Amino acid sequence: MSAATPCTDDCTSCTSDSPTPTEAGPVDARPGDDDEGAAPGPVRSRFAWCLTGSGHGLHESLELAARLPQVDLFLSAAGEEVLGIYEIPLDSLRKRFRVLRDKTASAVPVGRLYTDVYHTVIVAPATSNTVAKCAYGLSDTLPTNMFAQAGKLGIPGIVFACDTEPVVVTEAPHGWVTLRPRRIELDNVERLRGIDHARVVASVDELEQALTLRLHELSLSWITSSS
Ligand SMILES: Cc1cc2nc3c(=O)[nH]c(=O)nc-3n(C[C@H](O)[C@H](O)[C@H](O)COP(=O)(O)O)c2cc1C
Repeated sequence: MSAATPCTDDCTSCTSDSPTPTEAGPVDARPGDDDEGAAPGPVRSRFAWCLTGSGHGLHESLELAARLPQVDLFLSAAGEEVLGIYEIPLDSLRKRFRVLRDKTASAVPVGRLYTDVYHTVIVAPATSNTVAKCAYGLSDTLPTNMFAQAGKLGIPGIVFACDTEPVVVTEAPHGWVTLRPRRIELDNVERLRGIDHARVVASVDELEQALTLRLHELSLSWITSSS
């Protein structure tokens, strides 16, 4: 950890409200980092986008992520597997994003949150598994740790929960399937709505609206083809 960083990696009580966009210091090499040792960037300059093992909304979420400025992807282990199943190679994502993988028991890449570089944490799409963990304060994957630690730092979170309607039609690798989320999945989404610093969205359109609002709050814009 460099002297320029505001807090040690295992600290969960520091605040994260630096108002001035100055360069944060380099971070130490960490397992799971694509760019071990690289400087994280100016403070409050990046989106942390967590991908879980959901096929539902995966392509649409990645399309939105690609239109945002300064995005790092944080994958769950299942997320990484599902990307492979949908034939989205990690190398293709690395052309557009910094990619952090879930290779450690203690979610080491979460230490990046303490460098004060992220202004927003997004979990999209979020599996019913991740929604349940986030709703009950569990954190044992990279996305659930990012969500929990962001909340403790007061960093706003946006979660695109997949199982939000009585009937969900979703694209499986080999065709469309109809799912009927159980009461417990729907209840978990409702519980998640009550978690501090979290905004829950239930569709790609709602996710886009929430991101538009967040960009506006940050005085940022969507990337257009001409930008
Ligand atoms: C091809 C494929 C697609 C999947 N899509 C979904 C999905 O849309 N929603 C969901 O809740 N789980 C889905 N799963 C199951 C999750 O990947 C599984 O529950 C996993 O343990 C979730 O881990 P995570 O929440 O840590 O990413 C899918 C699994 C596979 C193999």
